Amino acid sequence: MYKITVVSGDGTGPEVMAEAKKVLNKTAEVFGFKLEYKDELIGGIAYEKTGTPLPEQTIKTAKDSDAVMLGAVGDWKYDTLPPEVRPERALLGIRKALDLFANLRPAIVWEDLVSSSPLKPEIVSNVDIMIIRELTGDVYFGEPKGVEVINGKKTGFNNMIYNEDEVRRIAKVAFETAMVRDKKLCSVDKANVLDVSRLWREIMIETSKDYPEVELSHMYVDNAAMQLIRAPKQFSTIVTGNIFGDILSDEASMLSGSLGLLPSASLSDKGVSLYEPIHGSAPDLTGKDIVNPIATILSGAMMLKYSFKMDEAYKTIENAIKSVLSDGYRTKDIMSEGKTLIGTKQMGDLIAAKIK
Ligand code: IPM
Ligand code: MG
Repeated sequence: MYKITVVSGDGTGPEVMAEAKKVLNKTAEVFGFKLEYKDELIGGIAYEKTGTPLPEQTIKTAKDSDAVMLGAVGDWKYDTLPPEVRPERALLGIRKALDLFANLRPAIVWEDLVSSSPLKPEIVSNVDIMIIRELTGDVYFGEPKGVEVINGKKTGFNNMIYNEDEVRRIAKVAFETAMVRDKKLCSVDKANVLDVSRLWREIMIETSKDYPEVELSHMYVDNAAMQLIRAPKQFSTIVTGNIFGDILSDEASMLSGSLGLLPSASLSDKGVSLYEPIHGSAPDLTGKDIVNPIATILSGAMMLKYSFKMDEAYKTIENAIKSVLSDGYRTKDIMSEGKTLIGTKQMGDLIAAKIK
């Protein structure tokens, strides 16, 4: 029996979460384990009901559970709220509160979806990249930050900052991950300009001494952004800081054709990890039964793999998804000629039905 905190959030978050639970429940039934869900509030909906986007109660329940599943947060209607209570703040808050420092964002291109990518098939077929994004440091959390009047001018500032321990622990996750993949690790930084990147690179090199089998390379972030499009197959495991990882992972999602396909795992070394799709809440699509639930379903599968060490259950869900896609079913975001267009719920039903 595993206790799961479910924070579905805003927009299409609840819709995709419902499908992920459907698939997880079927998997639990087939594999003989139990999942107990507890719903908590996060994001705009939490702000509306409690005055804060990340209530204490949510953190308390999360800390007391075995894993957290998150849908998405945000809506344009909250865009005018002060920064401290904006829904996005809850994401940063829960990452910090649970110390979710390692964000794993796989970008995998499945054979059946090669044509959904805006890039040429020969460039994207067989792409399988794991982006490891540091998630609790960098310019996202660095102090000082703010907007102040300095020398008579309104001035905005943030601080891009990492200490050696923060870099070392993400480096360790990255090298361990590379070890179970094909032992190639590319560290992305901006060490030609930024001091913080020079330290990053130094610690990556230092850590590589403990992993002599892993081939470590370094790439500047601007070049990496270009290479991801030019020749994505050169990458296997990428490790990078919070802001570069934010940007590169969105870019990498387009290799696979849709943001709606990519899951993520945010891991802590304290036990409770969090799983969420990398896409946002897509408020314009809410309630229309058209969003793709695959990213959230795969996030649930990652939970089974990383939090509960159920590799086989993970594989079973992944294969179920592949099989539904190869049967020709598509949600709108990945629809192409000759395929069968289906909605969010039907995608969940079909995937669940394949789990046996
Ligand atoms: C992500 C998102 C968040 C981030 C935002 C919504 C705060 O873009 O998870 O990638 O920048 O980390
Ligand atoms: Mg992002």
